[in-house]
Amino acid sequence: MRLQGLLFSFMMGIIAIVHLYLYMLWLTLQIFYYICQSVYHSIFGLHEKEVAGEIVLITGAGHGIGKELAIQYASLGAKVVCLDVNKHTNEETANQIGKNACAYQCDVTKREEIFALAKKVKKEVGDVTILVNNAGIMPCRAFLDYTADEIEQIFNINVLAHFWMLQAFLPIMIEKNYGHVVALSSIAGIAGFPNLIPYSASKHAVRGLMDAIDNELRVTNKEKSQINFTTIYPYMEDTGLCKKPKINKMLKAFLLLSSTKDTAAQIIKAQRQNIRRKSIPSFWLSLVALVRLLPENAQISVTDFIDSGIEPS
Ligand SMILES: NC(=O)c1ccc[n+]([C@@H]2O[C@H](COP(=O)([O-])OP(=O)(O)OC[C@H]3O[C@@H](n4cnc5c(N)ncnc54)[C@H](O)[C@@H]3O)[C@@H](O)[C@H]2O)c1
Repeated sequence: MRLQGLLFSFMMGIIAIVHLYLYMLWLTLQIFYYICQSVYHSIFGLHEKEVAGEIVLITGAGHGIGKELAIQYASLGAKVVCLDVNKHTNEETANQIGKNACAYQCDVTKREEIFALAKKVKKEVGDVTILVNNAGIMPCRAFLDYTADEIEQIFNINVLAHFWMLQAFLPIMIEKNYGHVVALSSIAGIAGFPNLIPYSASKHAVRGLMDAIDNELRVTNKEKSQINFTTIYPYMEDTGLCKKPKINKMLKAFLLLSSTKDTAAQIIKAQRQNIRRKSIPSFWLSLVALVRLLPENAQISVTDFIDSGIEPS
């Protein structure tokens, strides 16, 4: 009896090892397949889905990247819903675009306002199929000089607003199993920058939110989820948000401020290609990942050499 029991446990152990071995083999084949696919795509490019006829809602459309995104999405045939706390600049963007755009004033920190707006947009324009959470602020000073109100406001606009917008606009995307969410994080969302501590923390939070919600929908959806998520990590753009940028003089030629037009074009391209994470310029994500493999003191040496950041203003 005892021998039979031992034999049974031994057989079960063998089966478990073979099972694990086969699974690891299958995983290795999948990894190899996706590496080949990624090499193929980097040589021949990725398919870009159409945005004509989509309803694109952009927060912070009154200025900078949001404004340029609105203009470029409309030029591709999308219907653009411009949203900003600043009524005047927001209407200017919509008027500049013409019939393919409409403007709604909304403070994205106000959850109730967002839910009322979602109902209004659904009735007057239709179901939003592409949501771009772009609005953000970036006060810049030494950590102990921030007031409590400022820190709360940074998190209200840069982080909590993303939650409220998702809670308002994601349900219809889930119901139809169709849609795309784009969020603006920052290089400060993958590395910590002096003088930008609340901002850096808020942009790390955006990264966590986007990675987690993407995963949740992927694993909970019975059908293959057709809702895509794209997180954008810009370095520094010429919108006026980065008032006093700095970088090692020797690297200035490689890391100039990107133009808002080019940034918006790259964001739209990443969304149309269903890319999950995109830094602008694109080498930043790989560079940060590589540097993180180095010993900690070496990481500090590289950071000091690049010497990039924003001076307090
Ligand atoms: N400019 C850069 O260098 C840079 C770099 C990395 C990341 N980003 C991110 O890109 C996004 C856009 O940046 P930008 O440079 O175009 O900013 P911007 O200051 O030019 O424009 C931001 C817009 O958001 C609006 N806004 C602010 N608070 C709002 C609120 N409570 N409700 C609704 N609208 C509000 C403003 O009125 C403004 O029109 C931000 O999330 C920013 O953190 C920018």
